[in-house]
Amino acid sequence: MINYHLTNKAALVTGGSRGIGREIVLSLARSGADVAFTYRSRIEEANALVAELQSLGRKAKAFQSNAADTAQSNEVVQSVIQEFGRIDILVNNAGITKDGLLMRMSEQDWDEVIQTNLKSVFNFSKAACRQMMSQQSGKIINIASVVGVVGNAGQANYVASKAGVIGFTKSLAKELASRNIQVNAVAPGFIETDMTEKLNEKQKEAILTIIPQKRIAKPEEVASVVCFLASEGANYITGQTVNVDGGMAM
Ligand code: NAI
Repeated sequence: MINYHLTNKAALVTGGSRGIGREIVLSLARSGADVAFTYRSRIEEANALVAELQSLGRKAKAFQSNAADTAQSNEVVQSVIQEFGRIDILVNNAGITKDGLLMRMSEQDWDEVIQTNLKSVFNFSKAACRQMMSQQSGKIINIASVVGVVGNAGQANYVASKAGVIGFTKSLAKELASRNIQVNAVAPGFIETDMTEKLNEKQKEAILTIIPQKRIAKPEEVASVVCFLASEGANYITGQTVNVDGGMAM
């Protein structure tokens, strides 16, 4: 029997307080995992989510930290190991956009996006994979984006960070394959969250014309794929990028 449940697994999700991350946190907990997550601001949202996870009967912990900061990220990973005794699943989800055409993009907007979206993946993966190597098993799932595969005008910083995440995923998958640690990426298309709320109606209409399924997805449609990749059902999948995009890139 293939086991899709995550009972007795310990998971850590970066940027878990809202949007796609929040749904990933909830879905992992509903599948049986104890879940820790990081967030940047909005402490009330994070506390409410911890209470919701505990009401499901799971251990839960929230850490306010900047995923781009190496020292803070190491501290979070050490605290999770102390609290839960292990880390079986790491989901690198934290991400931001600072869009603009390259000619108008500031160095700060470039640096912030690369640090938050790509360096954070280095920070958490490096810290967590030590523990996973000693456990001789683990799953690392990186949230990329379909634009990291196909490119997008006005998002050179974001696309570079997400293409970087996809390349990092493949390399780390090769490094850790013999240690029974699988590393994969999920590349969402357009998902209803605060990130896409910024788009105006005209932009949303234009996006729908390039999605064969003709709709924007819900965060839970990304979370379900993450849960599958975190389960034993995905033990022979590594180094892959799964597009969850209604057919945008194929
Ligand atoms: P969101 O803006 O709703 O949530 C982002 C999360 O990241 C929040 O929990 C926030 O606290 C956290 N975060 C941001 N900067 C952080 C930092 N420096 N340190 C720690 N946490 C930080 O965004 P959404 O839409 O839920 O995005 C989640 C991931 O999915 C991101 O990596 C994003 O690039 C990716 N994605 C989203 C798509 C969409 O259509 N919404 C499409 C493709 C990818």
